[in-house]
Amino acid sequence: MIEIRGLRKTLNGKRVLDGVDLDIHEGTSLVIMGPSGTGKSVLLKHIVGLFDPDEGDVCVEGMSVPQAGGREIREIRSKISYVFQNSALFDSLTAAQNIQLGLPADHCRHVYAMTDPLVLEAVSLVNMGPEVLALLPSELSGGMQKRVAIARAIVGRQKYILYDEPTTGLDPVNASVINRLIAQVQRETGSTSVIVTHDIESAFFLGDRIVLLSDGKVRASGTPAELRSSPDPVVQEFLHPKLEEEMIGE
Ligand SMILES: Nc1ncnc2c1ncn2[C@@H]1O[C@H](COP(=O)(O)OP(=O)(O)O)[C@@H](O)[C@H]1O
Ligand SMILES: [Mg+2]
Repeated sequence: MIEIRGLRKTLNGKRVLDGVDLDIHEGTSLVIMGPSGTGKSVLLKHIVGLFDPDEGDVCVEGMSVPQAGGREIREIRSKISYVFQNSALFDSLTAAQNIQLGLPADHCRHVYAMTDPLVLEAVSLVNMGPEVLALLPSELSGGMQKRVAIARAIVGRQKYILYDEPTTGLDPVNASVINRLIAQVQRETGSTSVIVTHDIESAFFLGDRIVLLSDGKVRASGTPAELRSSPDPVVQEFLHPKLEEEMIGE
C-alpha cells in the first residue's frame, strides 16, 4: 500500500501541493485526474522520491520515502516502475535494450537483450511481435514507443506501476489501444496502477477509483459512478467542460 499524508510542496514560490491525502491499495487502479499544471506529475514524483515534500509524508509499504536512505530508497524503487509522459526511451538503444533496462540491477545483463526470456515475455504482454526488438525508438510510431515504455515498466514485475499521461499525444485509436493495454497488464500481472491523466474518457475506463486534484488538494475521490453523480460544481465543470472552453483547447 502507498499512503500519502498531508503532502505540501511549493515550487518557484507557488504552492503546488497543498495538503494531499491519498491511499493507494494493492491490486487496484487509481486514476489521478485534474487540469494541466495542478501538480499531478509533481505528486507522482514524490512517490519515487524525485521530489522531497516541504511537509507531509509518503509511505510505500510502511517505508517513508522522504526519510529513506540510499539502501531503502533502492528497495522502494525496486517495487515501483514509472512510465514517463514522453515515453523517455533511450534513442541509441534498441527496443530490446530499452526494455531490458527495466530489469533489476542484479539481473544478468550478459544475456543478449533480443533473446532475454523476460524481455520476450514483456514484449508479448504488450501485444507486439519480437520483430520490433531490433528497432530503434526513431523507427517506431508514437503508439509503439509507448508500448515499449510499458514493456520496460512491467518487465521487472514491480508491484506498482505509475503512468504519467500515458495517452497524451496519441491519436484516439492508439489512445484506446494503450488504455486497453494498461487494463490488460493490470489483470494479467496483478499489479497496482496509478494513472495520471487529464483525459476523462481514459479516467473512467481505467479507474477503480478516481481522484480529482484541484488547487493542490484532492477535491473529490470515489468510484467512477460516485464521481459522475457528485453534486460538487467543480467536479461537474471538469467532467463536462463548457463548449467554448473545449473549442479554445483545440
Ligand atoms: N522541477 C520543477 N521546478 C519548478 N516548478 C515545477 C517543476 N515541476 C513542476 N513545476 C511546477 O509545478 C506545477 C505543477 O506541475 P505538474 O505537476 O507538472 O502539473 P501537471 O498536473 O500538469 O502534471 C506547475 O506550475 C509547474 O510549473
Ligand atoms: Mg504532468
